[in-house]
Amino acid sequence: MTPVRSGLVNQTGVQLTIDGDHFRRNGEPHQIISGALHYFRIPAELWEDRLLRLKALGCNTVETYVAWNFHLPYADRPADFTGMRDLGRFLDLAASQDLDILVRPGPYICAEWDNGGFPAWLLDDHRAVAALRTSDPAFLDHVDAWFDELAPIIVRRQADRGGRVVGVQVENEYGSYGNDHAYLEHLRDGLIERGVSVLLFTSDGPSELMLSGGTLPDTFATVNFGSRQQEAFDLLGRVRPDTPGMCMEFWNGWFDHYGEQHHTRSADSAADELAGMLAAGRSVNLYMAHGGTNFGPWSGANAADDGELQPTVTSYDYDSPIAEDGRLTEKFHAFRRVIAAHTGSTPPEPPADQAVQPEREVDVDGFIALQAVLDQLEPVAAPAPDSFEHLGLNHGVVRYRTTIPGPISGEISITGLADLAELRLDGQLVGRLGGPRLDPGFPAAVDHKIPIEVGPGDHRLDVSVFSLGRVNFGPHLGSTKGLTRVRLDYQQLFGYEQYALELTEIPDLGRSDRGPSWQPPADEPGFHRASVIIDEPVDAYLALPGWQLGYLYLNGFNLGRYWNPAGPQQTLYAPAPLWRAGANELIILEFGDPGGRIAWRTEPDLG
Ligand code: GLA
Repeated sequence: MTPVRSGLVNQTGVQLTIDGDHFRRNGEPHQIISGALHYFRIPAELWEDRLLRLKALGCNTVETYVAWNFHLPYADRPADFTGMRDLGRFLDLAASQDLDILVRPGPYICAEWDNGGFPAWLLDDHRAVAALRTSDPAFLDHVDAWFDELAPIIVRRQADRGGRVVGVQVENEYGSYGNDHAYLEHLRDGLIERGVSVLLFTSDGPSELMLSGGTLPDTFATVNFGSRQQEAFDLLGRVRPDTPGMCMEFWNGWFDHYGEQHHTRSADSAADELAGMLAAGRSVNLYMAHGGTNFGPWSGANAADDGELQPTVTSYDYDSPIAEDGRLTEKFHAFRRVIAAHTGSTPPEPPADQAVQPEREVDVDGFIALQAVLDQLEPVAAPAPDSFEHLGLNHGVVRYRTTIPGPISGEISITGLADLAELRLDGQLVGRLGGPRLDPGFPAAVDHKIPIEVGPGDHRLDVSVFSLGRVNFGPHLGSTKGLTRVRLDYQQLFGYEQYALELTEIPDLGRSDRGPSWQPPADEPGFHRASVIIDEPVDAYLALPGWQLGYLYLNGFNLGRYWNPAGPQQTLYAPAPLWRAGANELIILEFGDPGGRIAWRTEPDLG
């Protein structure tokens, strides 16, 4: 018996070992039936409920990544492990529900998460960016400092010390990115030196190149796929004959980018693939068992070869067995049947589904212009535009203010814009531009120039950039936010006052109420306020018909980005714990054109 440690649940030690081509758990042959669920995508008040649903699905293990940037968004502040960031509490809750745990601490996690989990401030260290995911100390020194803080939280909860962490991953699908094995070795050895004594493993996509780049000779290897399991396990078998076959990411659904169709995968097809793996004695981690939500600005993006951003939507429902709001889907029941038939034991009953607020519509009745909020900030001067990262911003708005001497007529063009921008000349909107081609209201900056004509004297040009998620996968990983150049015809405009507004949390806004006949101003981005009284704090799905693009905040919590013309997602999930019985405040930050009311739907609309 392992003694009980303070702060840990009372568990006897669990031992997971490899015996030829299968696992043993406390000596008995064992198959890992795991489900991915990311604590950073679920309000902490709902962790327990979601873990209970995962148990009810039939999983014996839960898997989570750790998102570095979620804990350490600012280089000069201590890491945050409280509330929704309380990783230790999440691991303890999983253990208290009799689940084994796999932890994937990165430092790179991909996961459709901003910057693949790397903190924004890392991108301001140019040597580190050039050396991202390599053995260069310019990058590794940052990782080592982070792992020094993170590792103890995981280590003390390992199965051989009375907790339930049975495995820890080294990097993430490294073979899809690079081939610096010294880097992987450094990470693995660093985990061991910091006390990781349970199973270490790598995980990679199903190709020879991926498996050769991402595996280490004496570290357990796993493979990721959505279908064609035989091919994938054959490939893995070539690199690793005679070790257990495990799919570390069985993609039972998929994520959505803005402007694309909503992805779904049939319950039958996914359940058949799962049944095949279990029958063949494989171990599996369902990616995702429960996807959750990219609250705030945390959803990531892909990038096309030419760098055009493909930002990921707010919902991370993933068409997974346990829906974004916890509902049990057809896929849940199909998987539960497959697992129960395979193991011969019926999993516990799931908790009841949550109630949903009824349909209603609410008017906005307050407004503060974004420009007025930016005016209150202390500007940072620079000859050429700085990146968001250099200005210390995770996500939000930067207003780049410069001067145009008149009289002159010409065309303004912008380079290096991956996100969205609006241009104002002496306060008047003169145009909008976008990085991605997703919204006709923001024509692509690479194709469009904005004509201007001004009289004598100095004129103020404001270019306000609104960031979308950072790239989380592929060669464009490490791309910064902001813009690189503003030109008037062939001439670069230099000399900026830069106003940087962080929107991870709601900024401080003054009060400003209007009468009932008040209409939100067009052409003026800003914060629109609405108040609503509710009886019971239960789940809601909020739609913003007619609104264009921005963030929605509930009682100060950033529910995520909406982008109606781009779609496919049309409602934002507003989970029960964020509501209060009585008065609630909703704030919409609209960066394009405002709509009318806020509408409550009784069903999610993911497109
Ligand atoms: C890869 C990554 C995951 C995730 C999936 C796609 O497998 O390892 O983090 O990005 O792709 O959802």
